[in-house]
This record gives sequence, C-alpha cells and structure tokens, in this order.
Amino acid sequence: MILERQITEVEKIKITDIFGRTFKTLRVSLTNTCNLACTYCIDPAASNNKTPLPDSALPMGLANKKTALSNEQYIKIIAALNDILEFDTIRLTGGEPLLYKQLVPLVKGIKELGISEIKMTSNATLLAGKAKDLQSAGLTSINISLDAIDPDVSFSINQRAKLQKILDGIDKSIEAGIQVKINCVVMKGMNDHQILSLINYSKERNIIIRFLELMQMGHLYHNFEQLFFSEEEILKTISNHYQLIALPRNPSATANYWTINTDYKFGIISNVSDPFCNDCNRLRLDSYGNIYGCLSDNNPINISDCIDDELQVKERLIQALAQKKTKFSGSELSMLHIGG
Ligand code: 5AD
Repeated sequence: MILERQITEVEKIKITDIFGRTFKTLRVSLTNTCNLACTYCIDPAASNNKTPLPDSALPMGLANKKTALSNEQYIKIIAALNDILEFDTIRLTGGEPLLYKQLVPLVKGIKELGISEIKMTSNATLLAGKAKDLQSAGLTSINISLDAIDPDVSFSINQRAKLQKILDGIDKSIEAGIQVKINCVVMKGMNDHQILSLINYSKERNIIIRFLELMQMGHLYHNFEQLFFSEEEILKTISNHYQLIALPRNPSATANYWTINTDYKFGIISNVSDPFCNDCNRLRLDSYGNIYGCLSDNNPINISDCIDDELQVKERLIQALAQKKTKFSGSELSMLHIGG
C-alpha cells in the first residue's frame, strides 16, 4: 500500500511572485557599524572619526531595537528560513562583518546546517589574521571592497588610512584558499582614474574585479548624479587600453562580465544603467532580526519574534517578496545598515 502523506496548508504556500522571483540568497548583516567611513556610505561632513554611528543616525524602526542578535539567534533564524527556502548561498555582510566577534563560530554553525556556499562581503581591514580560521570554518568566498590602489585616493574615499591592511587581507585570503573578488565603487573625479591600475592589480593576482556604479543611497540619495560614473564610461576607460569581449549574463547575477586579452575577466555591476531587479533572488536579514525583500524598501519586517511559527514566517516572507521592485528606486538608508 502506498502511504500518501497529507500536504498541509502551510506547505502549500509558495514564496514566489508573479515574475517568478523567490529567495535563494540570504544576505545576513552582522552589525551596522564599520571601521571605515567611505564617502558613499557616510557623509564626509558628518564623519568625525567616531564609529559606531549614534542611534540618531539609525533608520526609523531600528533606533529603538538596539539589541542585536546573538549567534544562537542568527543560526535559529537562518535554519528556519533555510528549511522553507533552501538557500543556495548565505552572504555575511555588515556594516563590517569582521567586527562581529563570533564570526568564526557563526560560519561553522551555518555550515553545519548543510549550506555549502558561505560568502562574505568585507572591507578586509581586519581580515589578514582571520582568513585561515574563516576558511577552515567553511567560508568559501569573499568580496572585498577596494576603491583605489593609490594610498591618497584610498584615504580620500575610505576616510581612514587602511590601504595596506586591506591589501594584506586580500593576499592572506588568497593564500588561505578563499575565492576573492574585488568590489570597487567608481565615483567621478574621485577614483575613476584608478580603474586601470585596479584591473592590473587584480589581473596580476588572477582575481576578478567588479566595478560598481554608484547607487542612489544614504546621504547621496539627493545628489548622487555629480559623482555618478556609468558602465559606458567605465568600459570606455578600459577599452582605451584593452580590447573587450562581452560575456553572456548568468541568471540572477549582479554583474555583467567582459574579458580582456582573452584570458582575464572583469565585471561591472550596473546598478543604474542595467539593473538586475527582474530576476533578483536576494533576501536580507539585519542584525536586529528584521528581513527586507528589496534594497529600495526601508521597511523592516520582524522575523525573530515568530521564528517558531512556520505559517507566520511564510506570511512575512510573502510580505518581504512584495517589497521587491522592478527597478531600483534609491534608498535613504545607506548600505551600512543592511549590507550591500
Ligand atoms: N553605491 C554602490 N555601491 C555601494 N556600496 C556601498 N554603498 C554603495 C553605493 N551607494 C558597496 C560597497 C561594497 C558593496 C556591498 O556595496 O563598497 O563593496
């Protein structure tokens, strides 16, 4: 006799929108503080060497929820979401995730859930001494922000003299066997003249660099145009020195890729010129236990208070999915708060 299991009402609920979008990547913010003060995140006029940010700088809804999640809570939330969504990838972000003291045990805990792609986005200033332990714990890949190779330019953007620490972090991660990609946010008149040196730096190490178009976020919400440097301008800068061949785009990928000199591949994340919203599969969890379905939506949806109730969790995931836009429309929240 074949025993047919009864499918419950809860199991029938599908987390998919009318465009076929769902959540396959979870981006987990571990803190909303950072030890750099990059000008695209923090208004240079407001920066005074003091991090973390005062509570008054937190977005509405977060300022009164100061208790950040513990490692056990993160694992519990990730496990419950993973049971429903079966993630391909967990990406740890910040603020700066290396400021989170329990990072290595957290990576281990996520790996024990059976999730094999555990990645991180980091500024790498605190990475050199931890790369080996992170690799052993299960971290497979790191995207490292490197906005310039010239120390003065780096200082003018990061507002901290940390370039050497970043470069050490990159080298130690490569040595530890972690896959490294470089992220560079290109800003007109600030670091657009660094594009070629950064390509050469990355090519020498055989690591991929992705140039990011500046997004209309945080304090740049109202005046990002003056710093905006487009995909077209980035390609023009590179094509003055190299012949470019465009590669086909992978589904749900954030970047478009090109090769130069047949063997070396670089990417551009064209947040504005060629947004990738139509097949975005990202869900965000902040360090206060709120989820977000879209970078353009600043409304936190709490998940930590109902994590044992699958029906409630699914309902809130559907709410988060409804936040997804078809085009990035900007956010007054900087990346600092919910990770990139
Ligand atoms: N526009 C584009 N990229 C940004 N990042 C942070 N803020 C912005 C912005 N306004 C980048 C970081 C990091 C990635 C997660 O997002 O440099 O590489």
